[in-house]
Amino acid sequence: MMTYCDPRSAYTSSIMSVQEQIKRITAPDIRARKGGEPIVSLTAYHAHTARLVDKYCDAILVGDSLGMVMHGLETTVPVTLEMMILQGHAVMRGSSRALVVVDMPFGSYEASKEQAFMNAARVMKETGCGAIKVEGGRRLAETIAFLTERGVPVMGHVGLTPQAINTIGSFRAQGREEKDWGPIEDDAKSVADAGAFSLVIEAVAEPLARRITEQVPIPTIGIGASAACDGQILVLEDMLGLSPRVPKFVRRYGDIGPGIEAAVQGYADDVRKRAFPGPDEVYGMKKK
Ligand code: KIV
Repeated sequence: MMTYCDPRSAYTSSIMSVQEQIKRITAPDIRARKGGEPIVSLTAYHAHTARLVDKYCDAILVGDSLGMVMHGLETTVPVTLEMMILQGHAVMRGSSRALVVVDMPFGSYEASKEQAFMNAARVMKETGCGAIKVEGGRRLAETIAFLTERGVPVMGHVGLTPQAINTIGSFRAQGREEKDWGPIEDDAKSVADAGAFSLVIEAVAEPLARRITEQVPIPTIGIGASAACDGQILVLEDMLGLSPRVPKFVRRYGDIGPGIEAAVQGYADDVRKRAFPGPDEVYGMKKK
């Protein structure tokens, strides 16, 4: 007897089984957390650190800070799209739960909304990440709307925007005088109105960060912007005590630098004394 299989039900069940497999937190999940339980995020650039932070974080940012942290650059300006894609892919491989957001590097999205879409689409296709981040406010509103309307979830970034270092002159905190609040507030509102699902606020005075958080309908994620924000982010290496210099807003939750140095010193001493490798760390001949 021939059995008839309704193609629509086959389609529906295959969609459902795909959905059941998707366990990652999504950009809309983060968007829905406005005003709720604080959003936990950290940066990661490697598969092994991504694996460690994935369990505890709602979002992992593959930040362009990798240029300074991994590559020892003075600023994030020289970071390329290829660097972001390589590390974004590694972080996706190392994680399975958190939303992975990849930073768009300087020069990859500012020229036009079309340039931004082409490069953001490349990042999403080649890494499999769930969202991208761009730095800037009002001037990017049109671009953010263009991206979100075309399937690219966008995290905004206002306040201190390190990619603008050559025009702002230094990495100092923003909005410490009330007269400077207007443009930063306008930036935050424009990014939210344009359709971003969340907003990083970096190095901004506490009262201004609180005010922006109250005003925008999307979650704010603070870095040096106080506990008034809807969530927090730190650069992993900074909070682990691996970065030689850190901004005032970093709390060190670890001090792994000396532990690494002690391990390397122990290894070097053992090699020099021919104490490593020892009998347990060599291959003998197969027994006949
Ligand atoms: O690049 C980065 O790590 C960032 C965070 C500091 C928010 O943009």
